[in-house]
Amino acid sequence: MKVPYVDFARQYSGEKTRLIAALDRTLSQGEYILGREVESFEKNLAKLCHTKHAIGVANGTDALVLILSALGIGAGDEVITAPNSFIASAAAIALAGAKPVFADVGPDQLIDPAAVEKALSPRTKAVMPVHLTGKCCDMAPFLKLAKKKDLFLIEDAAQAVGAEYRDRRAGSLGDAASFSFHPLKNLNAAGDAGAITTDSDALAAKLRLLRNHGLVSRNEVAFWGHNSRLDAVQAAILNFRLKTLPKVAAARRRNAALYRKGLAGTVDCPSDEPGCRDVYHLFVIQCDRRDELQAYLQENGVSTAVHYPVPIHLQAPCAKLGYKAGDFPQAERQSGRILSLPVHQNLNEKQVRFVVEKIRTFYGKD
Ligand SMILES: Cc1ncc(COP(=O)(O)O)c(C=O)c1O
Repeated sequence: MKVPYVDFARQYSGEKTRLIAALDRTLSQGEYILGREVESFEKNLAKLCHTKHAIGVANGTDALVLILSALGIGAGDEVITAPNSFIASAAAIALAGAKPVFADVGPDQLIDPAAVEKALSPRTKAVMPVHLTGKCCDMAPFLKLAKKKDLFLIEDAAQAVGAEYRDRRAGSLGDAASFSFHPLKNLNAAGDAGAITTDSDALAAKLRLLRNHGLVSRNEVAFWGHNSRLDAVQAAILNFRLKTLPKVAAARRRNAALYRKGLAGTVDCPSDEPGCRDVYHLFVIQCDRRDELQAYLQENGVSTAVHYPVPIHLQAPCAKLGYKAGDFPQAERQSGRILSLPVHQNLNEKQVRFVVEKIRTFYGKD
């Protein structure tokens, strides 16, 4: 049996006729950048995220850079984030001109509020928790800290569209949030795409200019801006796929539950916290002999991935920030033990059971 890590061909074959009709409608309108399709997606996304505004941008990295810039965060400022995220979380802080500062994560891979408190300095301007794997961080302590210390709270929700924390949606929990619709994400474009959500009218207005060269009108520029607009074709695909997002999350949650049941006592599985809704962008186990297990699964037709094998503070650009091995013990230990199993919505139960069986066999459980 083959268990692919992703299955775009299967996703496309299930939607082909209807998706092509939607694209045809958009292309016939003759608006290729921003325009009605993007506006419609922004409305739909804001509704999904329970926010006042959503602003479509070119990708999730730009979403973070634009948020930081719009909040006035730059040279001389520090922003605290997680060292185990995708490189873009920290890169965006550096690209905005500020300094990325890291705080270690807890056993659940999510940034630890106590560690964030220890990382505060007089230059800290914002905290950027990452809802890694599609699970929301415990936001209550961050909301309290942000209020007490007058900090901005920015959600990196790139992996967490549709996730919930205590009945509140990812994207609505801080001052602003970034989303990625990279093809691997639960809500995926056919290329790069991203968005920002916020409840602030002023911030939304600034972000709309910032993503489009600072253009107030065709010939008038308010400030230096970026070219980070969302294309109508990607917005049409996202509008189309947004309708099936609840089903995508439900299928991923079903697969996660099957893994959790089948792998209990064999490897550490992510738990489902009461009151929160994890959308399982990734299903990450923590295990001994990770590399051997990954090779064994590959030999048996099961593709897996590691998100991410090198913590950000140990990447080359962080050397000049003074970070070194040993600074974040949890993140570093986990980087050698984590393995992302296929959890996508196009898997069937047989495939999930097959993966479980192979992992149990590897650890001599059967
Ligand atoms: C946690 C996180 N932040 C930011 C990004 C950046 O998003 P994009 O690839 O759309 O620029 C990603 C993308 O994988 C991500 O996973």
